[in-house]
Amino acid sequence: MDNALAMSNHDVAVLILAAGKGTRLKSSLAKVLHYAGGRPLIDHVVRACLPLHAKKIIAVVGHQAQQVSAAVEPLGAETVLQQPQNGTGHAMLVSKRAIGNAKYIIVLPGDAPLIRTETLRALLQKHKSGNAATILTAVLADPAGYGRILRKSGDTVAAIIEESQLTPDQRELNEINSSIYCFTAAKLWPALAHVKPNNRHREIYLTDAISILNSSGETILAEIAADPREALGCNTRADLAGVDRTFREWKRDQLMRDGVTIQLPETVLVDPDVVIGEDTILEPTVQLLGKTRIGMRCTIRTGSVLRDATLGDDVLVEPHCVIDSSRLESEVILGPFARLRPESHLLRGAKVGNFVEIKKSTIGEGSKAPHLSYIGDTKVGSKSNIGAGTITCNYDGFAKHPTTIGNRVFVGSDTVLVAPVKLGDGAYIAAGSVITENVPPDALGIARGRQSTKPNWAAKKRRELSATSAHHPKKKPHKKRR
Ligand code: UD1
Ligand code: MG
Repeated sequence: MDNALAMSNHDVAVLILAAGKGTRLKSSLAKVLHYAGGRPLIDHVVRACLPLHAKKIIAVVGHQAQQVSAAVEPLGAETVLQQPQNGTGHAMLVSKRAIGNAKYIIVLPGDAPLIRTETLRALLQKHKSGNAATILTAVLADPAGYGRILRKSGDTVAAIIEESQLTPDQRELNEINSSIYCFTAAKLWPALAHVKPNNRHREIYLTDAISILNSSGETILAEIAADPREALGCNTRADLAGVDRTFREWKRDQLMRDGVTIQLPETVLVDPDVVIGEDTILEPTVQLLGKTRIGMRCTIRTGSVLRDATLGDDVLVEPHCVIDSSRLESEVILGPFARLRPESHLLRGAKVGNFVEIKKSTIGEGSKAPHLSYIGDTKVGSKSNIGAGTITCNYDGFAKHPTTIGNRVFVGSDTVLVAPVKLGDGAYIAAGSVITENVPPDALGIARGRQSTKPNWAAKKRRELSATSAHHPKKKPHKKRR
């Protein structure tokens, strides 16, 4: 086939069923907005459909329609409102006008997020051989909860039987309906018009259209998913956890193929948009979230959580660091136990050590804040040293103020820098100072009470104390037990 033809599907409309509440999740949030693999379920489904270049992608919305629409519209899907939600067949009927004159309809449930584009392409290809319907099925060890495929012959399907309507014999059937189908529109609509709400929930089931098509002599084919996980729906929290596990595994497998070392991979959680360079090492229990980007040869040690972080090459993140919306240039060393809050920027070779919190600050090239500090709204130049326990007082109870620290500045331990304040290049701050005024370049800033030393004071004190206790002899000690 011509390549361009294979790529575009202008005769196809994609319909995603996403109006249901998801009662079995016991949640105030609509089912398709629940997260798995770092994205809402519906988001995965729309993304899998986009490369088909169908005429349109329509999401049927109902429960929390506004929120679901807000999730799919930015991805290029349009929406149809189904109110009330009278079943999957009813959802199709209310979308008829939006589907318009598309020759083929691909239907997907909004709660089966593991589906892949290639599988949909194969389904469509198979369908175009002239069937009325082609169903994506899967053979599961535990088919409970799914509609079952009743085969007519080796290739063709007679009906889909919903779980609640299975006869005892049919319970043994382990080929399930994924709820992903391809229909020929001209054949589906008349069949759907005949579906009655003949079930406990008084709903119009799309699945009932299959037996109607079969009775009118139409051909219904089933395509068994090569990876049965692609057919899995999420009806319960346990289903969500299972699907999340698969997404995480797929992402880690991709990263490992791309040259990333992952220790105890099953403990490492990486969001879908994360990018990591070759020879980077992820230790157990690391989490890389959001739009995090990591360069080459970095090591992210155990327990660290990075969200929307950008790291250059050869960065070392020691155990148990938290990095949020911050940037670390190459050769930075961070942690253990460091916290970077949003808009922190550590320039090349900077070193930020244990129990240091940084917010909206820049730490210049080769500068160090090795221990126990808070640095907020601060700009530190290059090759400066921030001593242990240094605190920037950036907030006076009313407003935030900046601190500027130049190049090659030495800030002694336990310094308090009361912002706004500036330390010039080469300045030196004596330990324990409370700095409230600017310190010019190369000056010494010292701001603390002078020490006074009283010779023999302690010895004298002890003598006084033992003299008074002589008048109050100690109680007899307890007898030692044998
Ligand atoms: C459905 C199928 C079942 C299949 C299973 C696969 C039917 C009757 N049953 O069952 O054969 O094995 O999916 O996961 O179709 N929805 C609407 N409007 C409605 C009802 C549902 O848009 O009125 C949407 C839901 O939001 C959901 C999807 O359709 O995304 C499927 O509905 P759900 O209730 O999950 O159906 P299942 O019981 O899983
Ligand atoms: Mg379902």
